[in-house]
Amino acid sequence: MKTYVIVVAGGSGERMKSDIPKQFIEVAGKSVLMHTIERFRLFDNNIEIIVVLPESLMGYWDELREKYAFPVPHKTAAGGPTRFHSVKKGLELISETGLVAVHDGVRPLVSIDTIARCFKTAAGRGNAIPVVSPPDSLRMISGDGNKPLDRTGIKLVQTPQVFCTDLIKKAFLQDYRPEFTDDATVLEMMKIRINLVEGNRENIKITTPEDLIIAESLIKDIA
Ligand code: C5P
Repeated sequence: MKTYVIVVAGGSGERMKSDIPKQFIEVAGKSVLMHTIERFRLFDNNIEIIVVLPESLMGYWDELREKYAFPVPHKTAAGGPTRFHSVKKGLELISETGLVAVHDGVRPLVSIDTIARCFKTAAGRGNAIPVVSPPDSLRMISGDGNKPLDRTGIKLVQTPQVFCTDLIKKAFLQDYRPEFTDDATVLEMMKIRINLVEGNRENIKITTPEDLIIAESLIKDIA
């Protein structure tokens, strides 16, 4: 079956307080985004890789590719104003029917096992997204008070989120809604049931400067 990954890296990363978006920052010898792309190449040498970038930084990405002699072949697309719009731009480059993973460019610590679990379940059941259990106790703020939340019923959602290409293309024809925080929420709007598989704890979304320190120390150990 034909396999694709759309790595979305079209965001400007305002929470990082850095001049360049977090996906381009160097960690362990190369850009965060290069580490992320390499995870998928390692999973499947034949996977077709589509990278969505901020339109204004596409030239900068070319410079980085040259600087680091980055060898992994991939197509690029210019992103849009939200993650939803960026994914949509990536989907336009998919021509064959198969499975597509959508993955945040700022999650370089995804394990090969997590990627494999998502593709395996999506191959049998049409879609799969990785989740982990929250390690902390949880509380819900209500009015001016708060109350404990039963964490056994709560999961934290990661990427890659893997779907049949026909299904996700159809779902992304919908108009954008602010509730679309990931790809699963877009498909759910079409009454599609989402399958959960186990993610990996280290698969953090690099968001703050502290996350970069965690990534730097873990990146060599992720199998
Ligand atoms: O902003 P957030 O942390 O949710 O971004 C998750 C991923 O989506 C990041 O990899 C970011 O680069 C990407 N993104 C995008 N286009 C946007 C906004 C975010 O590709 N307009």
